[in-house]
Order: sequence, then structure tokens, then C-alpha cells
Amino acid sequence: MSNLIVIGTQWGDEGKGKIVDLLSSKADTIVRFQGGHNAGHTLVVGDQVFKLSLLPSGVIREDKIAVIGNGVVLDPWKLLEEIEQLNSRGIKICSDRFLISENTPLILPFHKDLDLLREQKAGKEKIGTTGRGIGPAYEDKVGRRALRTGDLKDPNQVKRKLNIIKEHHDILRAGLGATDIDEEQLFDELMIVGKKINTFIKPVWKILNEQIKKNKNILFEGAQGSMLDVDFGTYPFVTSSSTIAAAAAIGSGVAHNKINSVLGITKAYTTRVGEGPMPTELTDSIGRYLSEEGNEKGTVTGRDRRCGWFDAPLVRRSCLLNGVTSLALTKIDVLDKLEKIKICVGYRIEKEEYTDFPVSTSLSNKLSPIYEEIDGWNVGYRIEKEEYTDFPVSTSLSNKLSPIYEEIDGWNTSTVGLEKIDQMPIKARAYIQRIEELSETEVSIISTGPERNQTILINDPF
Ligand code: GDP
Ligand code: IMO
Ligand code: MG
Repeated sequence: MSNLIVIGTQWGDEGKGKIVDLLSSKADTIVRFQGGHNAGHTLVVGDQVFKLSLLPSGVIREDKIAVIGNGVVLDPWKLLEEIEQLNSRGIKICSDRFLISENTPLILPFHKDLDLLREQKAGKEKIGTTGRGIGPAYEDKVGRRALRTGDLKDPNQVKRKLNIIKEHHDILRAGLGATDIDEEQLFDELMIVGKKINTFIKPVWKILNEQIKKNKNILFEGAQGSMLDVDFGTYPFVTSSSTIAAAAAIGSGVAHNKINSVLGITKAYTTRVGEGPMPTELTDSIGRYLSEEGNEKGTVTGRDRRCGWFDAPLVRRSCLLNGVTSLALTKIDVLDKLEKIKICVGYRIEKEEYTDFPVSTSLSNKLSPIYEEIDGWNVGYRIEKEEYTDFPVSTSLSNKLSPIYEEIDGWNTSTVGLEKIDQMPIKARAYIQRIEELSETEVSIISTGPERNQTILINDPF
């Protein structure tokens, strides 16, 4: 048995799609276990580029089984669009090799409406979601009212559940300026879409466990990244699913002790799309360099990704949260032309002043009083200088962090397309080694370009 989880260790877009496509040559089955079509995974195979949002990246290899697990939220119309796109390029998706779990919650049009309307209303406080209805769909899942794939086979069940969800959403939409939900029209549309996808809907948990008994290799493909995890990410600037490796078990029905390895995909620098803290963000010419050289534009929404230096404490934390057994370091080639390269090794908050007593004990423990000398009254508190070696969970803190950097020399040599570690410039190897030390995890794969073969395989992560 050899089952592997691939997850992103940063804020998404680490290059998971490329690595999953590459490694799926060794897998029998590839499973998406969380997220939805907020994901954008780009695969480059020769002169062909594939951009996948919902289908697992292994799907383009026609001898593989591709699976959407119960942890995903599924927009059935978007799914059919993606299947159609692949069909038109000669990649056939049939029920022999594509399965959807019967307990996968659906994203419906009013989830998208709510996502967009809330973001609009939030103004400066917005999260910067992909506007795909992900958050509202997960809310209905945990609210125990979601319409799930398996329901589509039973029109009465669809009708009953639609009625319950509509009632709930009528309340949520009040005052947001949304048009009324046309329940009957939606029912008809669901019946049409259901007919097209019912053939894929199966007891995925059972089929995967049968495969494990037969010693098949399963690859679990994560979406987003650990810093977007609903519990451990930069909350509330996160997505609405658990993005860490543990979610592979919950989101597929394969027990955690049946999965042996976790490959953490890590970009050689840091990027983020959407709002929220990002301590190493660069808004200067180096930030622009990373953006241009790395072609850092979001696959799903086309937004510019924010770029910055490699944040080591953040990746070290992700390695622990996910139980990462080795790292795949991507986009090292993007750094080729830099004279100097910085690595964040810790954070500092430069003098914080408070006029109210802070609630958090971790803060209030460190306060020194600010006195007014004349009458001796305490008029506030100050934390002189705080240093952190771990990424702090609290957003109010993480918003104020200044990175502590270590600087190393750049290598000023092209690493594009290298396939062997001994071709890698000494200084680039030193950078990779430092990342291994700081993240306390070894690198098993180095990616030197977007294509499958632009890869150095040091150890097999399976
Ligand atoms: P994902 O969401 O983690 O799958 O990542 P995306 O596909 O959204 O973004 C990664 C981008 O970087 C894609 O355009 C890939 O084709 C590209 N890419 C992946 N690995 C490398 C690499 O090693 N070097 C370069 N230059 N580009 C890469
Ligand atoms: P892949 O799989 C990068 C971000 C959004 C936003 C936040 C919440 O390609 O790495 P959501 O629509 O999920 O409610 O948005 O999460 N986000 C991603 N950022 N890569 C992704 O996926 C992302 N999926 C969601 O930009 O900040
Ligand atoms: Mg992406």
C-alpha cells in the first residue's frame, strides 16, 4: 500500500497541479477531497496547457481513475463545463474512470449570489473570495440542510430540500438587493443536470477502500493551502474548508491510518490572492519582479497575486500541521536573476501601544504600563518589542508583523528545466538546504519550470 496526500503549505497556488499531474503516473486513483471550483490548477504537458478547477489533476491521464470526494462542494454546472472542455480536447471522461461521492454537497446559484453580495456589502472588510459560492455552500453543509449529489436521483427529496434551503436563503438575502429565488426553475434545472451526472455518483468511500485492499496507489490532491485552512489559516481571511492533510480522510472516507505520506508543495517564495495578512509581502520592484517572472496571476479570477520572500516559520508550521513527510519546492527558476535573496526566519512587532486592556492573555502577560508622571495614573500599556519564531494565529497580531530576514547571495544562473540535482548551481543548493533546515523537512522534489519534465526527483515521495 502506498497512498500519498499532496497539499499546499502556503496560501495556495504553490504548483500542486503540476506535481499531482507528474506523480499521478505512479497512482491508480486521484482524489479531490475538499474545496471546490475556487481552485485553479495548471498543468503543462508539452505544448498543451490544462486549467482544472474541480476535476482532479490526474484526470488527463486516461488510464487513471479520478474521484471527487464528499469533502468537496460541487457546482454541477461548472463540472459539466469542465468535462465538456476536456472532451473537446479528446480526453474522455466516462463513468468507468470518474466517480463522484454520493454525499458531496452541491453549490447552487444562490450560494454564489450570497458570496458576491456579502463581499460587495463588506466593502473594505471583504475577504476577497473567488465569488464561487464556496463559503455559503459549506455553511449549508454544516447547517444540515445541503442538497447532496445522492439526492439528485430522488426528485421528491430535491423538492423537499430545495424548499428548506430556499426558506433559509430568503432570510439571508434580505436587504442585500438579491432577486427572488425561482424554486421551480431551479428544480427543473437540477433535474436536467442530475440526469447528466447521476451516472458518476457512487459510494466512493467503499470503492476507495476496496482499492486499498487490492494494494492500489491512491493520490489525494489538496486544493488551496494550509494558510487558508478554516481553523489554522489567517482567519477570517481563509476559505471555508479544512485544507490540511487530515481533511483527506474526512473528505474521502479513507481512514487516516491507511495513508502513509504527505507531500507539502512549497513555492520558493510566497504568494497570496485576496485579502489578509502576509508578513513578507513586497510592494517594491522585487515584488513586481516575482510577479512578472513567476507569472503570478490567479487562474480562477485573473487577479494579481501578492508576492514576497519565502516565509520559513510559516512553512515549518504547515509541515507540522500536515505531518509533511517531504517537500516539493517549486518555481526555484523564478529567483534565477536576483542578486540577493531574503528568507524570513521570524517576526517582530515593533512597539505596540494599547489604551484598553487587551483580552488575550498571551498579550496581557507582556504589558508594561505607560504612566503619566504628574498624577501617577496609568494611562495605557505597551509591549516594548515582541519577537516570534512561529507564525501567530491571531489576525490582529499577524497583521502587524515585520519579518526578520536572513539574506543570501543569488545564483545568477538559469535553473530553468534542470532535471538533475548536480546541475543545480551551488548557491541555489545552499538556498534549498537552508529551506530544509528552517522548515525542518527534507525536499524530495525540485520544480524548475511548469512542464512535467522540468523537475528534479531527489526521492520518490510515495
Ligand atoms: P496550484 O493551484 O497549486 O495548482 O498552482 P497554480 O497552477 O494555480 O499556479 C502555479 C503556476 O506556476 C502555474 O501556472 C504553473 O504552470 C506554474 N509552475 C508550476 N511549477 C513551476 C515551476 O517550477 N516554475 C515555473 N516557472 N512555473 C511553475
Ligand atoms: P488553489 O487550489 C489561492 C482564496 C481566495 C480568498 C480566500 C477565500 O488554486 O491553490 P473562497 O472563494 O475560497 O471563499 O475564498 O481563499 N483562495 C485561493 N487562493 N489558491 C486557491 O486555490 C484558492 N482558493 C481560494 O482568494 O482569499
Ligand atoms: Mg491555483
